[in-house]
Amino acid sequence: MTTLLPGYFISFEGIDGAGKSTHIDSFAKLLKERHPDRDVVMTREPGGTQLGEQLRALLLDAPMNIETEALLMFAARREHIAQVIEPALMSGKIVISDRFTDASFAYQGGGRGLSLERLNDLECWVQGRPDGSLLQPNLTFLFDLPGSVAEARRSRVRAPDKFEKMDLDFFEKVRQEYLRRAKADPRRFYLVDATRTTDVIWNDLESLEIKL
Ligand SMILES: Nc1ncnc2c1ncn2[C@@H]1O[C@H](COP(=O)(O)OP(=O)(O)O)[C@@H](O)[C@H]1O
Ligand SMILES: [Mg+2]
Repeated sequence: MTTLLPGYFISFEGIDGAGKSTHIDSFAKLLKERHPDRDVVMTREPGGTQLGEQLRALLLDAPMNIETEALLMFAARREHIAQVIEPALMSGKIVISDRFTDASFAYQGGGRGLSLERLNDLECWVQGRPDGSLLQPNLTFLFDLPGSVAEARRSRVRAPDKFEKMDLDFFEKVRQEYLRRAKADPRRFYLVDATRTTDVIWNDLESLEIKL
């Protein structure tokens, strides 16, 4: 059961270089224009809090055991939910996060091979609410494209972090796990073909009617 709170929670997902950051600010602006009475909170994972950003710096740089990595991701998420996401949603705000739990399933599960059962347990712990429901995004944009295209885009503009240094086989597994989750929950996911130009992607996002 997914929690129903007064706010609206949107996550942007996809492999590194898919175009999430490119579109997220304009998308927030669009929602503000459409809903001037609603506050929009922009955030990201790992991160979103002071502690979360410190954990992010470690997670994106320091080598560590796979389970340690998953635990730190979920520790950062717990703090993020408690300090930022839940209070915002309780007070009716729109929260837009650059990544959320689907990324843990895709990267630590699909990519690194950590058991999905373990990740499910962590998800229940960290996103569980007193009424037994799970805090989940209302809507998730999955920017989907082949790893090779994403890698070419990234290499033009930035030095790779720990994840971005992984090979194409890793990113293919991450992508497949994202797609599997999208297929399993079509009501929450909106699949974006990220191989298209930014203009075409923007028209796609803009034409989507979101009932808050
Ligand atoms: N549709 C697109 N076509 C071509 N290049 C793109 C497209 N979307 C984003 N890019 C470029 O790819 C790079 C990675 O995009 P970014 O938004 O940072 O990806 P992400 O946040 O998903 O890792 C950036 O240089 C961006 O300008
Ligand atoms: Mg980004």
